[in-house]
Amino acid sequence: MIGTGRSDVQITITGLGAHAPERRLTNDDLEKLVDTSNEWIMERTGIRERRIAAESEALSDLALPACETALAQAGLTGKDIDLLIVATVTPDMAFPSTGAILADKLGAVDAAAYDLSAGCTGFMYALAQGYGMIAGGLAQRALIVGGDVLSRILDWTDRSTLVLFGDGAGAVVLEQSDEPGFFAFELGADGSGGEHLWLPGSGSRLFDDADKRVKMNGREVFKFATRILVQSAQAVLERAGSTLDDVDVYVPHQANVRIIDHATKKLGIPSERVVINVDRYGNTSSGSIPLALAEAQADGRLQPGKLVLMTGMGAGLTWGSALMRWTKDVP
Ligand code: UT7
Repeated sequence: MIGTGRSDVQITITGLGAHAPERRLTNDDLEKLVDTSNEWIMERTGIRERRIAAESEALSDLALPACETALAQAGLTGKDIDLLIVATVTPDMAFPSTGAILADKLGAVDAAAYDLSAGCTGFMYALAQGYGMIAGGLAQRALIVGGDVLSRILDWTDRSTLVLFGDGAGAVVLEQSDEPGFFAFELGADGSGGEHLWLPGSGSRLFDDADKRVKMNGREVFKFATRILVQSAQAVLERAGSTLDDVDVYVPHQANVRIIDHATKKLGIPSERVVINVDRYGNTSSGSIPLALAEAQADGRLQPGKLVLMTGMGAGLTWGSALMRWTKDVP
């Protein structure tokens, strides 16, 4: 699916927040758990450490501070929000949705609130959905949350997945604006590749299956990732009538430094325009893009007027890109 949205409606991000748990798990720590090494992890993934939620923390606990920061930056409270979407594959529980839990904690009593599942691409899908709901007149102010506590569903004896992932969440407020914000989205799913990244025993198909841990065919996902990050970025730019030279800030899904480097080189984006924090957070799934956006805002790279390209990819297999001009000025 590809779309430029409605030209008569301008929608942008007016608030941004992110939160990761305190506990750091380094590669040295992992060496004590599985047969791996700091050298292997650094060379193959570029990840140095990742954050891991405390036993008492669920997704809503990580997402709440991110939502509060995003709302404060937008100058809003929960009461002002009429749509709350949480993109995740690790909700607090199947129901009530983490969206409803967060709406309650934030006092968003007038909000439609629910969860959305599109693997690591979830945040990009939720952004597009929030945009569509506002453009269609169904909502005025949306809180879009992306986050995961993947540490809960990892197989802590499987070195091929354990070293890659971490926990974290981020949130943005979407509203209409006087200036153009989002120009185009490009979303897709190829279910034929679903078998390469999956969670047995997590739904109605294999309900009694005791195996409720992530399984991944890393090489196949790697091939998909390097191809789709390039294709999706090119498609969204073409649809918006922009070129890679116009892009000031590139925020790819933070899965692996090698995948990001490959896409960056192939696209021809200078490295200083690429946001990378996977070295410190690992792959936080739906939290990845908002965490990276928040870091770019904190270090001053996300300034009003900058053209921002974001691309996510993950389980499904799914992918999603958005192109927007950043409008938010944070003193
Ligand atoms: O949001 C999407 C989420 N998923 C991804 O982004 C994953 C994409 N895939 C990847 O990032 C890479 O495929 C990995 C980082 C997972 C693996 O890197 P690779 O260069 O594709 O390695 P490989 O799977 O080809 O494995 C090479 C070797 C194997 O040993 P043998 O068969 O050659 O003896 C693995 O058993 O490395 C071994 N290996 C490890 N060794 C030390 C796999 N994991 C580890 C490990 N430590 N943690």
